[in-house]
Amino acid sequence: MKGVILAGGLGTRLLPLTRVTNKHLLPVYDRPMIYYPIQCLVNAGIEDIMVVTGGNDAGDFLTLLGNGKEFGLRDLHYTYQEGEGGIADALRLAENFADGDKIVVVLGDNIIEKTIKQAVGEFFTQQRGAKILLKEVPDPERFGVAELNGENVIGIEEKPKKPKSNLAVIGIYMYDRQVFEFIRGLKPSERGELEITDVNNFYIEQGTLTHSTLDGWWSDAGTFSSLDRTWRLVADSGANLVGDNAKADGVEKSAASVTGPK
Ligand code: G1P
Repeated sequence: MKGVILAGGLGTRLLPLTRVTNKHLLPVYDRPMIYYPIQCLVNAGIEDIMVVTGGNDAGDFLTLLGNGKEFGLRDLHYTYQEGEGGIADALRLAENFADGDKIVVVLGDNIIEKTIKQAVGEFFTQQRGAKILLKEVPDPERFGVAELNGENVIGIEEKPKKPKSNLAVIGIYMYDRQVFEFIRGLKPSERGELEITDVNNFYIEQGTLTHSTLDGWWSDAGTFSSLDRTWRLVADSGANLVGDNAKADGVEKSAASVTGPK
């Protein structure tokens, strides 16, 4: 299986922080945001990874990450998204890289506490289709929200005003090769983007979407409040989010270094 990290977009919800750099290069505690999704894939045993980026600052990813040596990788692949067409539009660019293999897609601003190793292992043996990860949240209207009937996900709504559950679809998705065909059939949503939720609904209609529930905390970091929250969660977590290879020299994570009321 191969890994794809989506790190394009304009990050407009974080202006002016994103005026001169890409959102995924901003710091989250003691390292750039993009380090966490890379480590998430590496921790799950995936070492063939492509970073999809875009905008004016794409070269900075190369300067920062190089061939991924800090993560114990042999090399890293990159591709460039022109404009901002949404998550599914960015994923489209990974078709040649995937080359028919199953892929694990991680949104570059999604950070998790633990590991997705088990879910990835389950998807490895799943004959076809897709797998998503769900997490109970207090504010489902901010996310893709799953509707369940017993154990089955029967639909996903993107940022619904009246969510049918409190189960958010987190930004880590596993797909078989059909995903690129489904993307070709997508039409832009009201916000003008090709939505990953529409892709997941294709798999639901086909009856090949499975899910599991994520263990440990999950946070995205695309707004000021979620970036702040993520930073604190990372700082308080102490270890394990990033491997020893990627740790800054002599810098240990410490809850004591985070101050403030929240
Ligand atoms: C995107 C997806 C949404 C998902 C979320 C996870 O939202 O569209 O379904 O729950 O990522 O972070 P966006 O970042 O575009 O608001």
